[in-house]
Amino acid sequence: MIDPFGRHISYLRVSVTDRCDFRCVYCMSEHMTFLPKAELLTLEELERLCGAFIAKGVERLRVTGGEPLVRRNVMSFFERMGSKIGHGLKELTLTTNGSQLSRFARELHAAGVRRINVSLDTLDRAKFRQITRWGELNKVLAGIDAALEAGLAVKINTVALKSVNEDEIVDLMTWAHGRKMDFTLIETMPMGEIDGDRVEQYLPLSLVRARLEERFTLTDSGYRTGGPARYVTVAETGGRLGFITPLTHNFCESCNRVRLTCTGQLFMCLGQNDEADLRAPLRASSDDTLLNAAIEAAIARKPKGHDFVIDRRHRAPAVARHMSLTGG
Ligand code: 5AD
Ligand code: SF4
Repeated sequence: MIDPFGRHISYLRVSVTDRCDFRCVYCMSEHMTFLPKAELLTLEELERLCGAFIAKGVERLRVTGGEPLVRRNVMSFFERMGSKIGHGLKELTLTTNGSQLSRFARELHAAGVRRINVSLDTLDRAKFRQITRWGELNKVLAGIDAALEAGLAVKINTVALKSVNEDEIVDLMTWAHGRKMDFTLIETMPMGEIDGDRVEQYLPLSLVRARLEERFTLTDSGYRTGGPARYVTVAETGGRLGFITPLTHNFCESCNRVRLTCTGQLFMCLGQNDEADLRAPLRASSDDTLLNAAIEAAIARKPKGHDFVIDRRHRAPAVARHMSLTGG
């Protein structure tokens, strides 16, 4: 699959649920309305959809949410997708908040998952509760331990939040690197209504990097995982530090991905509203002809990129949907 700008689409992110057991302040409002359960695709339907993408050249599949591990029976989905590794699929990964990892880490590894991203914005128990509203830090830390024990490579993803965790970034990085985990910082993106003000939360990573460079030696690295992060190595810790900077730097030129929701909508860009319905062609026939045509038509509409801005004149979110609909 090649889009109108010559980019090869080889990466699919599939959100298996928009629900989550946390309510992070930059992601959700406290009283979220979720998709009606009746509209969800079954796991079998999601498998068929992903299979169609793999047949069309998708090599990497990332399972996201919401929190993917809260979807009932989600392990059967991992097993079915894992069986495609080596048959078109090269890699099956997961983005999780870590709350259920103690329970699922071994099964994930057995299904073929080798790398996971865990979202963690603080190591302070009270602050963790404040950011996630509902989360328990100890459970997530135990989940991370279980993942490492199961042999999963863990990357910690931290959303940089002004006056919330900006003073903790060094601690988080040294903690992650000390445990052989990569560490990636993310800028908050203006997606979906939240109760707070994103202008107050936004911390440009250019500033964070400059501050880190006062204490650490950062060297640009060509390392890539197929995602939007750009990495440096940190001489003092020996670890890898990633930056995902949708605001201060446009990462769209090399975009290789599209995003599928749990109701079968395909989003061609994180920062644009255009979507393609794949549920109707999926359900119209057990043959994939219509579905393949719908996928091709969608890829042909993939936009050049987004232009997120966060400032006082742009208080409304750039896109109305929440990140939890499509995953990161
Ligand atoms: N901006 C940036 N990151 C976000 N995430 C959720 N909502 C936002 C947002 N508005 C992050 C989560 C997780 C990843 C899937 O996306 O913390 O790390
Ligand atoms: Fe849930 Fe992740 Fe959103 Fe937090 S950021 S509410 S863990 S989906």
